[in-house]
Amino acid sequence: MSGWNDWLRAQDAAREQAALERSIAVTDDAPHPWAMRDGRRMLNLSSNNYLGLAEHPELLEAAASGAARGAGAGSSRLVAGSDTAYRALEEKLAAFKGTERALVFGSGYLANIGTLTSLLDRSCGVVSDSLNHASIIDGVRLSRATVYRYGHADINDLEAQLRAASAASHERVLIVTDSVFSMDGDVAPLADIIALKHAHGAALMIDEAHGTGVFGPNGAGYAHDLGVDEHVDIHLGTFSKAFGAYGGYVAASDSWIRQLVNTSRTLTYSTGLPPALIETIDVALELVAASHPQRAALRSKAARFRATLQGAQLDTGLSSTQIIPLLVGRSDRTLRLAERLRTRGLLAHAIRPPTVAEGTARIRFSLLASHSDDSLAEAARAIIEETEALD
Ligand SMILES: Cc1ncc(COP(=O)(O)O)c(C=O)c1O
Repeated sequence: MSGWNDWLRAQDAAREQAALERSIAVTDDAPHPWAMRDGRRMLNLSSNNYLGLAEHPELLEAAASGAARGAGAGSSRLVAGSDTAYRALEEKLAAFKGTERALVFGSGYLANIGTLTSLLDRSCGVVSDSLNHASIIDGVRLSRATVYRYGHADINDLEAQLRAASAASHERVLIVTDSVFSMDGDVAPLADIIALKHAHGAALMIDEAHGTGVFGPNGAGYAHDLGVDEHVDIHLGTFSKAFGAYGGYVAASDSWIRQLVNTSRTLTYSTGLPPALIETIDVALELVAASHPQRAALRSKAARFRATLQGAQLDTGLSSTQIIPLLVGRSDRTLRLAERLRTRGLLAHAIRPPTVAEGTARIRFSLLASHSDDSLAEAARAIIEETEALD
């Protein structure tokens, strides 16, 4: 054991030295969009519950109704863990996304792992944005496909990587990208990516974790917002953000879904979601589709908040969505800023390596439709003052 003890101590020391120690903070509920931290009510600027649905009475009612049918699904969906409600939800989801079929997974993370490992193998090339979410990176690694990483949202580099993949004569090539990038709040150049996908005979998978619910007519996602959804082969997303619940999904044509049903290990070898979640997501789908005013409010609040920070020369990177990073650089400074913001009643999380690249630590603000204009204006003032006062 002494080898382990030495190693654990050294790991602790290295994290401490680099200001990279993480802990799970206790955040208690307070009426949305507030949260309780250390006994104090704070404005929650770190939630992905974009439309406020997590506390919606209709969702709570649906969860209670599902829970009354059983606390768990009892087995994998391929065995006996998939009931009529599951099927009805997938039909509704496919209609929402405008695809032939949809498939629900345990979470967005599991959907990415299960999809990428089901579709890719050693004979494939996968062309992946350098800032893709960790669950894409992990799925790609596990798939054993050859990875061609392109510079973030860099269409010229994407083309170069596609050329390299073509030269390597892979049997199949997949392009994979977030639609809205979770730590930068910018968007993928989907129209250009689609042109290249067609030119190179590749397939395209997009992760709409932060796009669904917020973008597109009825909140179907960023690809729908641009009107290019029909050119996307695999639409992936989560129910844990704008839907206010939990779970993941893939929406695609029948042939992709049949491949996933037959070979996705995170679907086959994991228990189905409990009935409470299936019923909750079903109701959330309807509420998301009807949340036009909330979507419009969220987008204009985000634009105003970002403009205020930028007006004070703060660096919000390339953000153009409800996710707004404040780039600080060093991890220790970022932690200090987050702490100062907490003293001003603002809950805003410091994001450090390895979640983001070395030297790009940041505070990540995620705006909610329910943030009032006044509380955002006050928050922006406090953020500007505290950033300027940071040594
Ligand atoms: C882009 C992206 N994809 C996938 C996930 C994983 O989704 P889930 O939280 O449902 O596992 C997240 C968030 O956590 C995400 O930001």
